[in-house]
Amino acid sequence: MASQALPIRISSPAAGGEADPSSGAQMSGLLIREPDDAGIAAAVEALRAGALVAFPTETVYGLGADATADLAVAAIFAAKQRPSFNPLIVHVAETAMAEALARFDERATRLAHRFWPGPLTLVLPRLPTCPVSLLASAGLPTIAVRVPRHPVAARLLSRFGRPVAAPSANPSGRLSPTTAAHVAAALGDSIGLILDGGPTPVGLESTIVDLSGPSPVLLRPGGLPEEEIAAVIGPLAAPDPAHGPKAPGMLASHYAPRLALRLRASTVAPDEALLAFGPAVLPGAKATLNLSAAGDLVEAAANLFAFLHRLDESGANAIAVMPVPEGGLGRAINDRLGRAAARTP
Ligand code: TXA
Ligand code: MG
Repeated sequence: MASQALPIRISSPAAGGEADPSSGAQMSGLLIREPDDAGIAAAVEALRAGALVAFPTETVYGLGADATADLAVAAIFAAKQRPSFNPLIVHVAETAMAEALARFDERATRLAHRFWPGPLTLVLPRLPTCPVSLLASAGLPTIAVRVPRHPVAARLLSRFGRPVAAPSANPSGRLSPTTAAHVAAALGDSIGLILDGGPTPVGLESTIVDLSGPSPVLLRPGGLPEEEIAAVIGPLAAPDPAHGPKAPGMLASHYAPRLALRLRASTVAPDEALLAFGPAVLPGAKATLNLSAAGDLVEAAANLFAFLHRLDESGANAIAVMPVPEGGLGRAINDRLGRAAARTP
């Protein structure tokens, strides 16, 4: 248990009974808005300020944040209370915007042309110039992108003009929300604004196709039938559990640093890089980056993947990692560090 109160916005659903969205609105400043011009403008402003905005897509409601802002993306994980950093789908207004994030081969171009906007997510190699937070793709070399068809999502994305990372707007392990009231009841306390576009028409999440390898893989069946996709690019393989990021939620091949990771370090050697946490930084490392000097786990999550990358390239012989407490996002941070440590030779 973390002994001190950390500034993370994680809230438990009200104990017992149904949460009342309108009283929640008063308590927390939550705003359910009509998706008219003023509502969309307020949502764009909230996204620009780094807040979370829930919005309808044709599949389910998404919990959106500016995908290029590490802290905003970290707030998504905090709100969902996920025990690990699942990569998120990045939503854009049009195919051209997706092409600035990921490398499209001929198959991807054909699928995008045929099914976007629509309930199809493509997993593609991330471009080196991709501005999306590494946390949004959980440090993977790939990125999941989609252009939603819902008019409210489309307007929000085109007015915002930047990519929006958005998982389904439900707490981890709960049902995906298909109305604004579902979102308000489950996550209202963590969200700046909810655009109410009525019930979502498809009600099932998007179909996810991984095109990062030689043969297309169906990662998640969803709102677009597999047969329609196969008619355009040929048959889809089932996920191969032995190889990498397949079944969503069970991704194995997340980014692992090249250097060995030494966890829960209480000392550091001169040839080691140090991934620090908190105000009392261990002295003597070859290079040091502090996940959060203030001990803020949301800030730490926001920095995690970018800092691991930088320390990996620091010329050190190993990376020593100071202990990170388990509370809130600490669990997901430690899950990721544990996997990275286990995978290094
Ligand atoms: O319909 C939808 O797709 C909704 C709406 C809001 O767009 N979003 C949604 O997001 O369902 P989420 O986070 O609940 O599910 C996204 C799935 C996760 O299971 C994740 O593992 C997978 O997409 N995913 C994301 N990026 C990936 C990547 N680079 N490689 C493999 N899987 C990825
Ligand atoms: Mg989900």
